[in-house]
Amino acid sequence: MGTLRVLPVMAAIGILALLVNPVCAKDELIVYSWWTAGGEADGLNALFSIFQEKYPQVSIINTTVAGGAGTNSKAVLKTRMLGGNPPDTFLVHAGSELIDTWVKTGFVEPITELWEKNGWYEVIPKALVDMVSYQGEIYAVPSDVHRGNLLWYNKKIFAQHNLQPPTTFDEFFAAADALSRKGITPLALASKNRWPLTHLFETVIVGVGGPDFYRDLFAGRIAWTDQKVKEALTILGSMLRYANTDHPALTWDQACARVVTGEAAMTIMGDWAKGYFTTIGAEPEVDYDIVPAPNNDGVFIAVTDTFVLAKNAPNRENGLRWLEVVGSLEGQNSFNPRKGSIPVRADSPHSIYDPLAVRTMEAFLRDAVVPSAAHSSAVSDAFVSAINDELGAFAVKQNVTYTAARLEQHARELGVR
Ligand code: GAL
Repeated sequence: MGTLRVLPVMAAIGILALLVNPVCAKDELIVYSWWTAGGEADGLNALFSIFQEKYPQVSIINTTVAGGAGTNSKAVLKTRMLGGNPPDTFLVHAGSELIDTWVKTGFVEPITELWEKNGWYEVIPKALVDMVSYQGEIYAVPSDVHRGNLLWYNKKIFAQHNLQPPTTFDEFFAAADALSRKGITPLALASKNRWPLTHLFETVIVGVGGPDFYRDLFAGRIAWTDQKVKEALTILGSMLRYANTDHPALTWDQACARVVTGEAAMTIMGDWAKGYFTTIGAEPEVDYDIVPAPNNDGVFIAVTDTFVLAKNAPNRENGLRWLEVVGSLEGQNSFNPRKGSIPVRADSPHSIYDPLAVRTMEAFLRDAVVPSAAHSSAVSDAFVSAINDELGAFAVKQNVTYTAARLEQHARELGVR
């Protein structure tokens, strides 16, 4: 039979199959995230591979909107959810972003039974369980823990110029002066998607006030016009003077790249940076290394990504299967080494992680852990967006009193205080 004569027969069989089993025509898994950069996309793909091996008949629809920290993708997701077009599962930070934006509004399903079935209570630390719980139900599966408050530095540059990685603000500025004199940009910064300024700022808040001040400030117990906030803004302003002037044009990974190429000596970023460095062939402890951000020793700013089951998910069963992969030992240990993060499961072997990850695992157990504000765990998306805007303006004008007053005004208008 010639090809042309076979085609109608095949079409008829296809239509018949559709009539008999409509589900088989649309056996999909729709995953929504902002993971498009090197490292984060690789981690996601590793999870897809595991899923695909287990469920080869399912087509994975990887829906992404680029822009680190979800600054662009979150708005698109809201429109999609409000329009009644949910994905099956989506990426969301634990804490306020999950609970205030999605759980209280009824857009995600509780998955407490899935937690019980998979024994996750026994292996995931209580602090993380609390961050994904609301009124006795669990709503998400964490894929990772990132440390946000890390300073990344180019080892060769520091060795060449006989410099030690800075641990305090004074040491940071001394090193920055020395590097500037040599014509090297001390600090790589990206502010194209605004959030890296807030990311940097929250480390400065910790550095100035410590973990309790940080918690109280973001919980609304301290005014944004407090002297320590002004001090933090002043330090932020001084740091910006040592940063690349083209930061408004760069994404976080482009800024990180400069540390590896030697165009800049340091950057302050979460350890998704390591996932990215790996994809460009840079080696931890050889090409680059980490120390806590200045004055941040003993404090761990946690950024935790999770996946949820959307209410009215078009492929609910596959959404649940996806969550099982995310929370599985295999999923965690295939995802996290690529992503640059540490696994959330206590039963994960340390041996497959690089030395920086092992240090981060130890710090997570030892340090005062505070949730990131820049990544919407400590405060709502709306407040983070307002802080992003104010710090964007601050980067240009550097008016400390004005910015502190504006932040206080936003906190009051949004009911944070
Ligand atoms: C964070 C997220 C990380 C990483 C980073 C850059 O908000 O938690 O997983 O992807 O943004 O996109």
